[in-house]
Amino acid sequence: MQEKIIVTGGSGYIGSHTVVELAKSGYDIICLDNMERADREIWNRVQEIVGREIPLEEVDLRDWESTRQAIEKHSDAIGVVHFAAYKYVSESVRKPMDYFYNNVIGLLNLLKAIEKTSIRYFLFSSSCSVYGNAKSLPVTEEMPFEEAESPYARTKQIAEHILKDLAVYEGKLKVVSLRYFNPVGAHPTYKIGEALVGEPENLFPRINLAVAGRLPQITIFGNDYPTRDGTPIRDYIHIMDLAEAHVLAMKWLIENEPVYEVFNLGTGDGLTVLEIIKAFEEYNGIAVPYSFGPRRKGDVAAVYASGEKAERVLGWKPKRKVKEMVVDAWRWHLVMEQTPYFRKRLDEKFPREYSATASIV
Ligand SMILES: NC(=O)c1ccc[n+]([C@@H]2O[C@H](COP(=O)([O-])OP(=O)(O)OC[C@H]3O[C@@H](n4cnc5c(N)ncnc54)[C@H](O)[C@@H]3O)[C@@H](O)[C@H]2O)c1
Repeated sequence: MQEKIIVTGGSGYIGSHTVVELAKSGYDIICLDNMERADREIWNRVQEIVGREIPLEEVDLRDWESTRQAIEKHSDAIGVVHFAAYKYVSESVRKPMDYFYNNVIGLLNLLKAIEKTSIRYFLFSSSCSVYGNAKSLPVTEEMPFEEAESPYARTKQIAEHILKDLAVYEGKLKVVSLRYFNPVGAHPTYKIGEALVGEPENLFPRINLAVAGRLPQITIFGNDYPTRDGTPIRDYIHIMDLAEAHVLAMKWLIENEPVYEVFNLGTGDGLTVLEIIKAFEEYNGIAVPYSFGPRRKGDVAAVYASGEKAERVLGWKPKRKVKEMVVDAWRWHLVMEQTPYFRKRLDEKFPREYSATASIV
């Protein structure tokens, strides 16, 4: 019998790509998602890529009773990959309570529900935001958390503290926290990518929308940071490299049963926002309309990963370069423009009111 893994938030951006990779490597997947920030068409396409039906339990992790029931129903699972959370720094600054409630209560309900089962392995979606304004770069896993720069970052710090204490003191659950840097790109089939659910805050959806004439331009929040060109430095990582890392991490977790381990998942290359825009322009042959605005609350100046530990321990090394990231991100947007279902959603939310710098059929 195949080993069963529960994936929370499996219909979201990182979750959908990871479900495909986990299913391809032989796991039986159950997805728990309230679909609040997911697109049903993406979930249909996940199953199309995998070639079989994957059960989806529509459960809100903030709701104890339905979480308990769903976990009990799938208590023969060996592990959980926990993606379900809110993810936007700026939104968390505006709505801190929503972030604490969803990201912390959701995690606690899930952990409490798991307590009575024999589920043993837990992979957690953490974030490079836990490092805050790091004292030195690249950041390594041993570095202490600096002050969280946003409620979102605080929820990830709190979650990691809870998971570590639980693993150390209670001892049953074996936990790996994966600290993602900035995922971009899409699946090589271009059947799935980042769906535009909610207000897109991250750089790539905004670049795509501006290039397509669906936003007037993108605003770069701050050009007075202490970086080479004044814009913030981030570590962009292709979504497929990230998805593949989860398969390796789950395998490693099962084989090694650590108490609690943490891995950075980034490329180690810090790029400024302007450098990313230039790469997008160069590799796609399209101009990106942008202007500068004030700094955005919650953003740090620079963060990029040391990936040494993930390579040494998990044998994971990102394969895709920035060219593939910017080309895949744009190509996925074009697929959405050319697919009636996605096109309709784009037209409803972001009507094409501005001049596009690319041709869109
Ligand atoms: N995308 C990034 O830039 C990034 C970077 C670092 C860490 N992360 C973390 O990775 C995880 C996944 O990110 P993503 O980009 O795929 O986000 P996403 O918003 O695309 O997906 C999150 C999924 O979780 C579901 N969800 C949210 N709250 C839920 C709840 N209470 N109950 C059930 N389902 C719920 C949503 O419907 C959605 O399908 C998150 O924990 C996020 O904080 C993301």
